[in-house]
Amino acid sequence: MSLVHEIDYGTPPSLAAETVKLTIDGNEVTVPAGTSIMRAAMDAGIQVPKLCATDSVEAFGSCRLCLVEIAGRAGTPASCTTPVAAGMVVSTQTDRLKQIRNGVMELYISDHPLDCLTCAANGDCELQDMAGAVGLREVRYGTGGENHLAQEKDDSNPYFTFDASKCIVCSRCVRACEEVQGTFALTIQGRGFDSKVSAGMAEKFIDSECVSCGACVQACPTATLIEKTVIDVGQPEHSVVTTCAYCGVGCNFKAEMRGEELVRMVPYKDGLANRGHSCVKGRFAWGYANHRERILNPMIRERIDQPWREVSWDEAIGRVASEFKRIQAKHGRLSIGGITSSRCTNEEAYLVQKLVRGGFGNNNVDTCARVCHSPTGYGLSKTYGTSAGTQDFDSVEHTDVVLVIGANPTDAHPVFASRLKKRLRQGARLIVIDPRRIDLVRMPHVEAQYHLALRPGTNAAILNALAHTIVTEGLMNEAFIRERCDISAFEHWAAFVSEPQNSPEAVGLIAGVSPEAIRGAARLYATGGNGAIYYGLGVTEHSQGTTAVMAIANLAMVTGNIGRPGVGVNPLRGQNNVQGSCDMGSFPHELTGYRHISDGAMRSTFEEAWGRSLDGEPGLRIMNMFDAALDGSFKGLYVQGEDILQSDPNTHHVSAALSAMECVVVQDLFLNETATYAHVFLPGSTFLEKDGTFTNAERRINRVRRVMAPKNGMADWEITLAIAKAMGFDMPYSHPSEVMDEIARLTPTFAGVSYDLLDKAGSVQWPCNEKMPLGTPVMHIDAFVRGKGNFIITEYVPTDEKVGPRFPLLLTTGRILSQYNVGAQTRRTANVVWHEEDMLEIHPHDAEQRGVRDGDWVRLDSRTGGTALRARVTDRVAPGVVYTTFHHPDTQANVVTTDYSDWATNCPEYKVTAVQVAPSNGPSDWQRSYGEHAERSRLIAKAAAE
Ligand code: SF4
Ligand code: SF4
Ligand code: SF4
Ligand code: FES
Repeated sequence: MSLVHEIDYGTPPSLAAETVKLTIDGNEVTVPAGTSIMRAAMDAGIQVPKLCATDSVEAFGSCRLCLVEIAGRAGTPASCTTPVAAGMVVSTQTDRLKQIRNGVMELYISDHPLDCLTCAANGDCELQDMAGAVGLREVRYGTGGENHLAQEKDDSNPYFTFDASKCIVCSRCVRACEEVQGTFALTIQGRGFDSKVSAGMAEKFIDSECVSCGACVQACPTATLIEKTVIDVGQPEHSVVTTCAYCGVGCNFKAEMRGEELVRMVPYKDGLANRGHSCVKGRFAWGYANHRERILNPMIRERIDQPWREVSWDEAIGRVASEFKRIQAKHGRLSIGGITSSRCTNEEAYLVQKLVRGGFGNNNVDTCARVCHSPTGYGLSKTYGTSAGTQDFDSVEHTDVVLVIGANPTDAHPVFASRLKKRLRQGARLIVIDPRRIDLVRMPHVEAQYHLALRPGTNAAILNALAHTIVTEGLMNEAFIRERCDISAFEHWAAFVSEPQNSPEAVGLIAGVSPEAIRGAARLYATGGNGAIYYGLGVTEHSQGTTAVMAIANLAMVTGNIGRPGVGVNPLRGQNNVQGSCDMGSFPHELTGYRHISDGAMRSTFEEAWGRSLDGEPGLRIMNMFDAALDGSFKGLYVQGEDILQSDPNTHHVSAALSAMECVVVQDLFLNETATYAHVFLPGSTFLEKDGTFTNAERRINRVRRVMAPKNGMADWEITLAIAKAMGFDMPYSHPSEVMDEIARLTPTFAGVSYDLLDKAGSVQWPCNEKMPLGTPVMHIDAFVRGKGNFIITEYVPTDEKVGPRFPLLLTTGRILSQYNVGAQTRRTANVVWHEEDMLEIHPHDAEQRGVRDGDWVRLDSRTGGTALRARVTDRVAPGVVYTTFHHPDTQANVVTTDYSDWATNCPEYKVTAVQVAPSNGPSDWQRSYGEHAERSRLIAKAAAE
């Protein structure tokens, strides 16, 4: 295996359609107009020496190393900043150029530490390469003159260092921070000899605006900005292209290794979701894979108050099978079930649902997507005919108006956010609908035209009011509606949204938003050009989550914003494989590709393929499993890669349900909170240790490639196979690729998908079929998948969760950039320096009324439970609204959330909880007793196993 090398063309590509022919060093080259001479030369295989240019950022022309001669032109222009012209004759290697380049390099080297042999970048340093390329043999000025060699090193960032003594002030880092990441954390301060790179106002990186995306580190041609792991481990020697296992953006990375050790993750330029960019999680937060708390041996115990006992794989698997069989013999076929995970691969999710259906003989399988994007699946399938977003991420480059509702891309989908910010800097306009002032509302070079800071729980009302304005003011796209949509459904819907209760004036009172702002936002979306809607869990996790998804779909249809680049309805998926786990038949009523289990003909194709007869009755959803456990009819659960205790609502209810079960089997990396109630623990493997696929928010099927062997000795898919076999259901596969082959055979939207295809194409967006063998970037182009687009009435029904004298505030929840979901992974990395604890954001007015100061401990109580955490007093939230993240088990924010849920899908209403906040002395009694219980429950009787 070798390092995957990507060519640096020096400058970004030109997207011009017309081409230009020129000659470079005697070679005829044809390139798009607007291409730089440097890039055109690279196309012809000629590498012009360069330092300040790299193809991820616009050329700057400062180093003067890339000079060329052009026949008929005076001087020696920089090839990075000079565009090609028809008939141009360019020379990149002449004696004159050689002399100039030599002189330039001499100056650089005379002010550079000459410690190449011991420098961490030795072998991966462009300054070193260029010294060789220009044939530098001596430095006439010596190195004793005035220089920057004594500059201080900044190693405040946990993941990379900044050694100013090695900086050549090429500004690649500054441009990467601006153009690629969009954070503007770096500047060049001073002039001439005194110019230097500075984070923020000459701060340390850790204290600046820097969000640790690493784009500057990647852009730096020297060892000035370099990963600490490269300093510690050395230069990588081989690499494997794989996919990030955090969020639904699905960034591709080169996992660069030295022996069996991971040195660094480098975003892959050919990754079509991220195009060479990443966020702090994907690039840096992988240390959890080697964390000391990772469990590597299977464990069992008879009761949850006993310590764990390490056992062999055979014994652990045997225990699972014998317990599940015993439970079914005693309590019936329906008394056990399984939960698939959106953190696991498609193949792993497929196998778990196959085990449940074929091995357990029932449909009691559900997925953690139930608690996040199930309304997306349902809402979009009813309106458009497909349970997925309509666009690829490239689409944002063609958008004129972006409507972001209930999503916080800069924190939760950072790489997409960087692409979005770039488009906004180019002039696209922005509408944000969110109770909280998310960063996108105002940040460097980005400002939302409208921020509708609605009261939590009123999404459907606001969306209806936008539709009301569009319909009553005649801003509809009538041609699109006539041609593409069901007319009678449209007329019915148009009459509904035109009713007075849906007017901005009426809704404004309910939602706490000015009618003018609602009307302005509606007009902008309907008339501002290509309009694209991006939404997240702030839309779905409501009692009317499905209603709001349908209302979004209606808005896109009524304005004709569907079926071409730059428009569409784009759910931003939380976890890496939310889309995939849903596609794989993880819901209790659906087989793969969202086909209902009651469809006898379809079921029989699976029966034939699996050699088992399948139950045609839908099984239990997660919350029904909990209820059935408390009723005494559900006794055994296999949970793969999901911490239901921490992530599901109403923690007390979940813990009571788990305690009532006789055999809870948890398969995970760590003894998570759910494992506190488990009887069998099966150690899982990290994404670095597995082969498979993840499907991102664009429906893009990305390969996950094994970088190292599973540290626990058994891949996750093999564990499911072993359980199935022990239960008498043989699933004979020898590699995950065979699982994908079976999925493709049985699922029309995956037709033709195989690891071979993914290796060749890089990735594909389902649906793949005969017509679109390489996938479908934009859906519903000529017709909706269901035929005619279906407008659905979306009446606003207020949630039953009401504020009142006891609980006068509304709690809503969200994520933060550095942490991920329940934090099982990110809390075990250096990311904790940015977010050590969950805090409660509270408006200064509400804080003052309660005598709460910034940083104080407060109690947070709802009708389901209470917890305590520290307060952050901020006007990011409106009066009457409080906000917290849910990354830390010490806080257990879900002790407070209720079991209200979406009317169609049971997706919990995490985003609206009536609460009270009061000063407190510290953690609550419950937190203390839970902490003690969890600690006891994690004891491992190692001695017994030895
Ligand atoms: S790590 Fe990212 S945000 Fe921080 S300075 Fe570098 S490019 Fe900017
Ligand atoms: S830190 Fe690196 S990229 Fe930035 S100016 Fe210095 S040498 Fe160039
Ligand atoms: S944006 Fe998402 S997929 Fe990309 S690196 Fe960050 S966490 Fe990973
Ligand atoms: S690479 Fe062109 S001027 Fe630096």
